[in-house]
Amino acid sequence: MTKTARVLPAPTDDAARLAAAVQEAVAVLRRGGLVAFPTETVYGLGANAFDESAVARIFAAKGRPSFNPLIVHLATADSLSSVASEVSPLSRRLAEAFWPGPLTLVLPRAPAVPAIVAAGLSTVGVRVPAHPVAHALLAAFGLPIAAPSANAFTRVSATTAAHVVAQLAAVVDLVLDGGAATVGIESTVVDATGERAVLLRPGAVSVAAIERVVGPVHRSSVAAAGTAPRPAPGMIDRHYAPRTPLVAFPTAERAAVERHLVAASRHGATGLVAFDVAGSAASCRIEMPRDPLGYARELYAALHQLDEAGCTIGFVEAIPDDVAWEAIADRLRRAGAALRELPPMQ
Ligand code: TXA
Ligand code: MG
Repeated sequence: MTKTARVLPAPTDDAARLAAAVQEAVAVLRRGGLVAFPTETVYGLGANAFDESAVARIFAAKGRPSFNPLIVHLATADSLSSVASEVSPLSRRLAEAFWPGPLTLVLPRAPAVPAIVAAGLSTVGVRVPAHPVAHALLAAFGLPIAAPSANAFTRVSATTAAHVVAQLAAVVDLVLDGGAATVGIESTVVDATGERAVLLRPGAVSVAAIERVVGPVHRSSVAAAGTAPRPAPGMIDRHYAPRTPLVAFPTAERAAVERHLVAASRHGATGLVAFDVAGSAASCRIEMPRDPLGYARELYAALHQLDEAGCTIGFVEAIPDDVAWEAIADRLRRAGAALRELPPMQ
């Protein structure tokens, strides 16, 4: 029999129901189980960060390779020294400026954090999420929660409880439903172990915002190439990918894309993700906001929607070539939406 996850509403406008849901989640975490919970970025798949076998279950549940470290979540920065053995002035400034919020700091790992959490590294990724449900859960549990994004390995991250259930129902014990994530893409990951901040993954906090606080941010070659750390280049470059093959196109090629859509629609459902979808022949038309914050909020839901519609192809309009769109460009590239020649018409 396939197990199905329990989904509990965790409404922030109903304190009693929220507290009851959180209490159940805490009980699951205490016995070494897995709880999917909302954060402002994406849903996380959480376990007690100090429980080695619970953390091992996360890797098994996601099909995630053991070389990919997890992020440890805290209720507040006050308990930072329980997971990080050294908190430099640089990391303190970053924590003060951006926590609670979508910034993950890589710091020297405290001995209390099992090596498996950090994939054997001597460092650990830490963040204090800015989400009332995540905060209530972390505060009630009283210990750090290790959590990667709540999606199957290499698949699109979840921004709703329904996305989690669609991918992980059989392996997660409880899902807290706190509604749709408001930021929509993952945290920015910064290595703060040295004197200068080093960008490991672009994300919800812009590099410009970080530079206003701590000065120039170094861009590691790892951030340019994919997720850190990994055994071989290119290995997990395809990440955040929907099943639907994607093709990015410049706005000027929209007319040619429409001809492709007409031809492709003879073979099944087709998708268009664009700033203006009026009059398109695509069966699944997803109109995206023109500002990067709005676009980020809706990106993963759009990719999930293409899959749910069973699209045989999804055309994605190119986004502005501007630093404000950096994290979105990174996610689209890893989703397979690279600018390329239009496929041959069938
Ligand atoms: O917004 C987010 O960050 C979400 C929510 C749930 O917090 N989490 C998330 O986790 O995106 P995940 O596991 O999908 O991505 C974690 C990223 C990976 O790129 C990982 O390599 C990096 O953080 N990371 C974690 N610990 C690290 C460490 N010690 N050194 C280098 N990179 C690390
Ligand atoms: Mg992830």
